[in-house]
Amino acid sequence: MAHLTGGGSDLRLDRWPPGATGGLQAWDATDEYLLRHVEASAPAPGRTLLLVGDRWGALAVALAARGLRPVAWGDSYLGRLALAANLRANGLASDAVPFTGADEPPPGKHDLALLRLPKDLACLEETLRRLRGALVPGAMLVSGGMIKHTPTRAWRLLEAIVGTTETTPGWKKARLGASRLEARELPPPPPNRIYRPLPRLELAGAPGVFGGGRLDGGTALLLRHLPASEKALAVADLGCGDGVLALALAWHLPQASVLGVDESYRAVTCAEANLARNESVLTGERGRVRFAAADGLADVAPASLDLVVCNPPFHQGHAVADTAAERLFAQAFATLRPGGRLLVVGNRHLGHHAKLDRLFGSHELLDGDARFVVVGATRGG
Ligand SMILES: C[S@@+](CC[C@H](N)C(=O)[O-])C[C@H]1O[C@@H](n2cnc3c(N)ncnc32)[C@H](O)[C@@H]1O
Repeated sequence: MAHLTGGGSDLRLDRWPPGATGGLQAWDATDEYLLRHVEASAPAPGRTLLLVGDRWGALAVALAARGLRPVAWGDSYLGRLALAANLRANGLASDAVPFTGADEPPPGKHDLALLRLPKDLACLEETLRRLRGALVPGAMLVSGGMIKHTPTRAWRLLEAIVGTTETTPGWKKARLGASRLEARELPPPPPNRIYRPLPRLELAGAPGVFGGGRLDGGTALLLRHLPASEKALAVADLGCGDGVLALALAWHLPQASVLGVDESYRAVTCAEANLARNESVLTGERGRVRFAAADGLADVAPASLDLVVCNPPFHQGHAVADTAAERLFAQAFATLRPGGRLLVVGNRHLGHHAKLDRLFGSHELLDGDARFVVVGATRGG
């Protein structure tokens, strides 16, 4: 666990899951700069403020420790778990900062909000549009990001969607922008992209959700290996994104109950909308396909699944992506029945087959192209 100092507090903060994040710090200079900004404006103790996208709860814990009453709105279920653990680690109640997932509107009405800028500009635009509803007229929104990850277009979006925005000089390679909420006639949001992963299935992407309305090359390869057998009765899509693999499984296996889990609330909302979009072409019992925000399969009963499919995350840097993938595969192993199978697709260079060997004892190479490989493993009896 690492310590964030400044503003008179010395905080113990960790990412989630603790110990599996490659020793990466749970805050950066953007958080420190935002905290300095709040301190300089000397807000009254007990003041409420809205935090948006506070990834591991660093801002929430620091501000709550200073006697303010932040409320958090975010997309990450892992971030929610980190927030509760970090509050506890610093002697605060684990629910001291209420958290609302991005599957719901931002909570309350505020005259001050802090936003960590997402890298994805479509996601920023959608966030800002939704955020307007949680700000009182004239409210201040202070946004921050690391300069190298913040294109000029991000500041332009703030001007266009929120109001006049003044940026600060860079500090420790971070920059802030202070925007005052002004009346705006916004054009309708851009439509979401639509694609067909299988001839009868139609899916829409959503801002901030993997794929952005296009079929990923790895997902396309894995789709060719989904079973069409009656035997797989309880199946799970681990890291479901827009729901593409879960819905394809539901299409191939009309008898199966299908669970799609993702740590992104936006992904779960998008997958649920895609389920509704395809309800008329899916046969079988109503309610057999379900999506949930979760830390992988952590809440699924051991030895209860026949099949797990997984296109694991790979964006967090090599070492972290590797640990994250292995952790998800270990969850799959624990939740599969003896004889149950895990199917994985991943970038060839990530060497997921070696992880399956460690967990399952062996693997099968099922397919591959220049970039991706599909590997399978069966849980022994
Ligand atoms: C590469 S995307 C795959 C999405 C979709 N299955 C597809 O093939 O298009 C990986 C997904 O895993 C999710 N994810 C990452 N860590 C997770 C965790 N611990 N629990 C659940 N989902 C997770 C990400 O939010 C992301 O949507």
